Amino acid sequence: MTSIKLSRPVADFHVHVRDGKMMELVVPTIKQGGVSVAYIMPNLVPPVTSVSDAVAYRSRLQAVDSSITYLMTLYLSPKITPEVIHEAKKAGITGVKCYPAGVTTNSDYGVASYVPYYPTFAAMEEEDMVLNLHGECPSIGHIHVLNAEEEFLPTLKDLHTRFPKLRIVLEHCTSAAAVQAVLECGPTVSATITAHHLFLTIDNWAGNSFNFCKPVAKFPDDRAALIKAATSGNPKFFFGSDSAPHPIVNKEKGKGASAGVFTQTLAAAYVAQVFDSVGAIDKVEGFLCEFGRDFYKIEEMAPSFSVTLTKTDTVVPNLLGEGPGAVVPFMAGETLGWTVKTEDL
Ligand code: NCD
Ligand code: ZN
Repeated sequence: MTSIKLSRPVADFHVHVRDGKMMELVVPTIKQGGVSVAYIMPNLVPPVTSVSDAVAYRSRLQAVDSSITYLMTLYLSPKITPEVIHEAKKAGITGVKCYPAGVTTNSDYGVASYVPYYPTFAAMEEEDMVLNLHGECPSIGHIHVLNAEEEFLPTLKDLHTRFPKLRIVLEHCTSAAAVQAVLECGPTVSATITAHHLFLTIDNWAGNSFNFCKPVAKFPDDRAALIKAATSGNPKFFFGSDSAPHPIVNKEKGKGASAGVFTQTLAAAYVAQVFDSVGAIDKVEGFLCEFGRDFYKIEEMAPSFSVTLTKTDTVVPNLLGEGPGAVVPFMAGETLGWTVKTEDL
């Protein structure tokens, strides 16, 4: 039986845990999935748009599970001025997340144009903070969910040219074109890749809202490009699960189903399965544990648990929680060939 004891737990650079009851349900699954560093997304309702909001949110997360290092990012909006950036840096906030208006869950307050934010980006560059980009253009005119990411890539390149020292992460990239664009940018530009986009293509979500997320999974060639990038050992590509829990009642809606796939509980196991399937399990630790930490230059607590990935079957549970607020995990009821086990130190 193949077993890999990771030299340190997984760092997941794109995590949605929400707030309130959902937060209490989901936060304990961060550790279960093998993760000790979680980069927490700010698209709450209302969004996290001030330093005090982010600091208070971090305290609520710590109250649920204090063994995780929570890295915080602010939701880009007109409130995020250069002054707020300087204040955020002092408060230990890591980055700023930019959602184009209307492209995904809770993005109503997102940006319509990047130009007004140039002074904010300049301040971030000066403070060495990270800009997280949801890389899609809104579906207007000739743009639709399948080309929304590719249409965004000139904006990525433009921002990189204007702010060459600003560290930028193209979040949850889903296309061969996005992989290529990130490769063409300098070392300050990286991308996260999710677990589910290593499995899914368009056929898996057309007709199945549980596999529907933004950006949507694309074509088989795109998935192949993601697997190639993730398993390449190139440190520009690292793990960000974009695990995004939604109550089952909101996923079961035929029309207007929420976008987001929940992978947190078995995060490292899904990834190990794909890497192993292409003969690249030796590359999994770099992708899951090393490259993201290096890019972010993070400070973290000493991990309080170890993580072992084992090649043995595990059935993905049908449900996390109960009642209308329960969450359906990715590949619910299916058998995965890998498991993740944590052990307290
Ligand atoms: C995310 C969510 O549910 O918050 N949904 C998703 O489809 N990925 C938001 C996001 O990252 O786009
Ligand atoms: Zn997300």
